[in-house]
Amino acid sequence: MTSSLATVSYIGATILFILSLGGLSNPETARRGNVFGIIGMAIAVLATVFGPRVTPGGYAWIIGALAVGGTIGLIAAKKVQMTQMPELVALMHSLVGLAACLVGFASYVDTSTVFPTEAEKSIHEMEIYIGILIGAVTFSGSVIAFGKLSGKIGGKPLLLPGRHWLNLVGLLIVIWFGREFLNAHGIQAGMTALVVMTVVALLFGVHMVMAIGGADMPVVVSMLNSYSGWAAAATGFMLSNDLLIVVGALVGSSGAILSYIMCRAMNRNFISVIAGGFGTGGGTPAAAGGVQPAGEVVPISAVETAELLRDAKNVVIVPGYGMAVAQAQHTVFEITKLLRDKGVNVRFGIHPVAGRMPGHMNVLLAEAKVPYDIVLEMDEINEDFPDTDVSMVIGANDIVNPSAQDDPASPIAGMPVLEVWRARTSIVMKRSMASGYAGVDNPLFYKDNNRMLFGDAKKMLDEVLVALRS
Ligand code: TAP
Repeated sequence: MTSSLATVSYIGATILFILSLGGLSNPETARRGNVFGIIGMAIAVLATVFGPRVTPGGYAWIIGALAVGGTIGLIAAKKVQMTQMPELVALMHSLVGLAACLVGFASYVDTSTVFPTEAEKSIHEMEIYIGILIGAVTFSGSVIAFGKLSGKIGGKPLLLPGRHWLNLVGLLIVIWFGREFLNAHGIQAGMTALVVMTVVALLFGVHMVMAIGGADMPVVVSMLNSYSGWAAAATGFMLSNDLLIVVGALVGSSGAILSYIMCRAMNRNFISVIAGGFGTGGGTPAAAGGVQPAGEVVPISAVETAELLRDAKNVVIVPGYGMAVAQAQHTVFEITKLLRDKGVNVRFGIHPVAGRMPGHMNVLLAEAKVPYDIVLEMDEINEDFPDTDVSMVIGANDIVNPSAQDDPASPIAGMPVLEVWRARTSIVMKRSMASGYAGVDNPLFYKDNNRMLFGDAKKMLDEVLVALRS
């Protein structure tokens, strides 16, 4: 392939990636967006492999790497459960970071490139230094995020004394060794500076994510997504690959925008999320040793739930992580269809951080064929709760916790929530009184107009469906 054909292919791939991102912003066009992305990536890989920079001797290596990487990717994609997606994404981000580090070290020891001027050599070395820095933070931060999301590492934030000072010292060391690196004579001296900086960057990545707890993990995941984009862009600079620079910048900036949206949705200051720690370990029994919220927990049966739903005019369903665990979305759709056929106005309220990844609930509901027009964002539905007869919470907890509004001392204080308790009756479907991901007790369960339908969401909804049909 000639170099001009490779350039044209790169431009085509870039356009497809931009169209892909545009498509992914809406559930109705997301599938098309995905197809654009797949075609763009296929063109990018082919143009790179058959491009002018690969010599025939390199094909065996490339085909071998493609076969190994492709096989691992295929197996992982086939095996992963929907609820494990965020962990897989975190793991993938770590690989981008690792690749940036490895490419950086390889570029440094590769002396085959001759730079016409000293300035160009310095720029290349700066690219290497910054590339490895971003890559190392992304790598170790993503590995810790993987551990936290998969439950291998506890969700409790690790708040070291003087942690902000530690970060500052780390930053100063990185700047100091950056200077040493650029002024180094010989690979040996430069390598020492690079290794020291890499170790500091790895420790910073670990420290940064360990300090984040509970409900702020979504922001960290999207932030690491952004970092992985910048790491890819840095790799593009090191390899002088324009497409990698553009794609990395696209991922980096869209990830940054997503992080900003997440922060706004959770009423958080981005900088304080990164620098501070927040929340406690997830899934702990509610109110262990603490103050029990006032009121009484009133259970309800599936048959009684069906009666309330049948008599309702307006129903709002609020799905959460538990619906994903129970894989209850298809039964939810069956119930929705049945109620709508009976003339009940059924709609869905989606919190921006419901579940464990952005858009988690939208994906599940789309998979179950729930029409898009009855799936509303939190801001669109919150003011309708006073006119709602039944709000049905399916495996959600933190996103419907009134203490976010009522208790300034709560770890989730200030986070906007779906105000399900303002409906005439709210029904919460979950297995026990355990808390959600943020590890915070939920006073909703004790409210007068709330009922608890205890059990696995799928099993209970199947029973509700049978009762509705009878
Ligand atoms: P959570 O607050 O985690 O609550 C989920 C509830 O589902 C749990 O309390 C659990 O109670 C219940 N549950 C689990 N398995 C169930 C099953 N088989 N059947 C019925 N119920 C089941 O979820 P949420 O309300 O969706 O809030 C999301 C939380 O995750 C937020 O804190 C958010 O910040 C965090 N987070 C979100 C993301 C993104 S990007 N969305 C990423 C990381 C973290 P039982 O054990 O009693 O059943």
